[in-house]
Amino acid sequence: MGVEIQIDNLSKSFGKQLIWGNVTLTVPAGEVSVMLGPSGTGKSVLLKTLIGLLKPDEGSVVIEGTDIATCSEKDLYEIRKLFGVLFQDGAMFGSMNLYDNVAFPLREHTKKSESEIRDIVMEKMDLVGLLGAEDKLPGEISGGMRKRAGLARALVLDPEIVLFDEPDSGLDPVRTAFLNQLIVDLNAQIDATFLIVTHDINTARTVPDNIGLLYHKHLAMFGPREMLLSSEEPVVRQFLNAQRVGPIGMSEEKDADELEAEKDQEMPPLPPIPMQLEPSNGIPRRSQRPAGEWCREHGVTPPPGSFDGNMSMATGG
Ligand SMILES: Nc1ncnc2c1ncn2[C@@H]1O[C@H](COP(=O)(O)OP(=O)(O)OP(=O)(O)O)[C@@H](O)[C@H]1O
Ligand SMILES: [Mg+2]
Repeated sequence: MGVEIQIDNLSKSFGKQLIWGNVTLTVPAGEVSVMLGPSGTGKSVLLKTLIGLLKPDEGSVVIEGTDIATCSEKDLYEIRKLFGVLFQDGAMFGSMNLYDNVAFPLREHTKKSESEIRDIVMEKMDLVGLLGAEDKLPGEISGGMRKRAGLARALVLDPEIVLFDEPDSGLDPVRTAFLNQLIVDLNAQIDATFLIVTHDINTARTVPDNIGLLYHKHLAMFGPREMLLSSEEPVVRQFLNAQRVGPIGMSEEKDADELEAEKDQEMPPLPPIPMQLEPSNGIPRRSQRPAGEWCREHGVTPPPGSFDGNMSMATGG
């Protein structure tokens, strides 16, 4: 299960400002994909375009044979039911307790009885570890709990695609590690297609099957995790390894003087590729590949020390 998203030649501008152009990629069904990019490169705009909240200027987003960019409002309404979305701040209604927040999509989009709704809400609250917190208001709980409540709400309609906009922003490293494990466990359990926008390099390096990088108004690269983590392409390499040396500067692109000053500096060697985070619930993920498989299949020698199970990064932080 899970459905793929075929994005072809997508472009989006606001007025005269091009946000990104020629974005082409297929987000594979049932897999976990991460989208990275400097602040302001249009990651949130991309997610909004995928659910039809924003219309692209050009290109198509095809899901189960329907093009989101050109379909009727009625078809869009149907396609949206396939999606669960976790917004950056959880986007909870402040005056409703967690139970009513999580129940909201069911009351809005289905004709289920209150007792059926109760079963589903409690199941999803349990899934995200929030049983017992149903009566709390969003303002009374921590940021990490709000994210998990947002996730429970994103899951109540049994989505085929879950979009996460910075699920880990504002969380401490320990809560981020718990949330990442929850994401991997959920993917194994519900088998939906996950697309995660994040700034957390450790998340990007350890969680997904695929990584994409938006940079300078286009998609610099999208592909299997091992492909990007072994890539020598300067932008990809700089971003995924959080380095200062490279084409990306404080204000997105470095000018000629800055690049000239750097030209004799050597790029530090690529760090080892960590093991991918595995489910803790004993359910195998359908899309999980053996460590190093992509590298072997493509004749790429991974950086020394890769896939060593004892590395600290390999534990997912
Ligand atoms: N509705 C809108 N109207 C006009 N401009 C917009 C609109 N939404 C976004 N933008 C612009 O599009 C650009 C990309 O915004 P977006 O929020 O997608 O960036 P982002 O990559 O998600 O950044 P961050 O990592 O900081 O969240 C920004 O310059 C923003 O000002
Ligand atoms: Mg954003």
